[in-house]
Amino acid sequence: MPTNATLKIDDKEYPLPVMIGSEGEKAVDTRALRQASGYIAYDQGYGNTGSCESQITYLDGDNGILRHRGYPIDQLAHYSDFVETAYLVIYGELPNATKRKEFGQLLRKNAAVEMQMQKILEGFPTSASPMAMLSALVAALPAYYPELATNNFEKDLKNFDLAAAIAISKIRTFVAMIYRYQKGLPFVFPKQELPFCDNFLHMMFSEPYKDHVPVPEVAKALNLVLLLHADHEQNCSTSTVRMVGSSQANLFTSMSAGISALSGPLHGGANVAVMQMLQSIHDEGDDGSRFIAAAKSGSKTNRLMGFGHAVYRNFDPRAKIIGDACDTVLTRLGIDDPLLHIAKNLEQAALKDDYFVSRKLYPNVDFYSGIIMRAVGIPMNMFTTMFAIGRAPGYIANWKEVASNPKGRIYRPRQIYVGPVKRDYVPMSNRA
Ligand code: SDX
Repeated sequence: MPTNATLKIDDKEYPLPVMIGSEGEKAVDTRALRQASGYIAYDQGYGNTGSCESQITYLDGDNGILRHRGYPIDQLAHYSDFVETAYLVIYGELPNATKRKEFGQLLRKNAAVEMQMQKILEGFPTSASPMAMLSALVAALPAYYPELATNNFEKDLKNFDLAAAIAISKIRTFVAMIYRYQKGLPFVFPKQELPFCDNFLHMMFSEPYKDHVPVPEVAKALNLVLLLHADHEQNCSTSTVRMVGSSQANLFTSMSAGISALSGPLHGGANVAVMQMLQSIHDEGDDGSRFIAAAKSGSKTNRLMGFGHAVYRNFDPRAKIIGDACDTVLTRLGIDDPLLHIAKNLEQAALKDDYFVSRKLYPNVDFYSGIIMRAVGIPMNMFTTMFAIGRAPGYIANWKEVASNPKGRIYRPRQIYVGPVKRDYVPMSNRA
């Protein structure tokens, strides 16, 4: 394996170190390039640029591989649950029984939300975007836990465990609060004795005098959906958390920024867009061919939502797991969702169409996740907030890597300026 690369520009050569990751990923380290040559590397959208070294998640887009701290996603999906996988993603090891118990207790202890925070929601019209409300509530956490969010890495890392538990547990509670607020229903307080997902369903669907009756299959399905979203390398929103965290912003503030990035329809918002696409195919009695034809136009606004991925040039392993789980969950719940049949037909049609095959566009995690969330009673406009609950461990683990890196630097990309060259000020009287 080479230890360095050489860049030749005109008649000059510039040796650049080569980096090799633990899974054999290779990079040319261009940190010294500008100083040495006056050139920067250019990669619009950073699709081919490594922004950091990370030990959390490994993706192999060509072979559809996803591992968290070395553990394959299909094994975690089969044997683990969301809270255990959250611990693994954050702390790097599967918890033993004692640590699993302690972590679970910390989450349960921090499930409740200060009454005053409810007033933040009252500042939003009930029609507001649930992701905007969630980002606002998370952004307010430093005001309620200033000792955990000092914007000083050394101090904030001392209180990291509690801050991480508060972030995961309260984001879950916030989502239930947002749902109740939008429906004009009274908030339901968490029950400390309930496991993570059961408590969420309780806070979402219990009535003042009638507790939500837990359905094991539903909590299991929810665990799977959240677990499959736990982390995903340097995706748009996780990179946002790292970017904001690199300024020494605290964990909560950095996560709030990540939640805002996640809300976009090309990213976390895709799970809502997929269901809207499937619903309109159903309502129009279409067989999906109209959507496939429109998607092939190449315009960003007509894409086949839930298809394609910035990294996977093969199946998104999460899509396979969720797709298989759809059948199991809906059968167990006795639900026959026409949108699932439409999704399957759409997938088959697209995977036979050269436009998608030639561009290696396969279903991603968002293609089927909405079907399961709908089956467990989550309203469509809340799907992306569910993604945020699931991704919280990934945001937390990535912020911790930034905060703990003694050689860390503030993220400050460069650019190539293509605007007007120098020109003198023109007085108003001389302007056209
Ligand atoms: C998530 O990064 C992550 O890891 C994200 C995520 C995570 O866990 O954090 O996995 C979660 O965000 C999943 C993706 C959810 N988004 C969608 O499902 C929206 C639909 N998909 C796309 O918009 C698109 O595939 C992206 C945004 C996901 C990826 O975009 P890229 O890598 O920038 O792809 P591209 O724009 O370079 O497309 C390459 C070609 C283009 O055609 P040509 O210019 O070569 O002719 O493929 C086409 C695109 O037009 N294309 C699509 C398409 N996706 C790409 N054409 C139709 N439908 C699509 N869905």
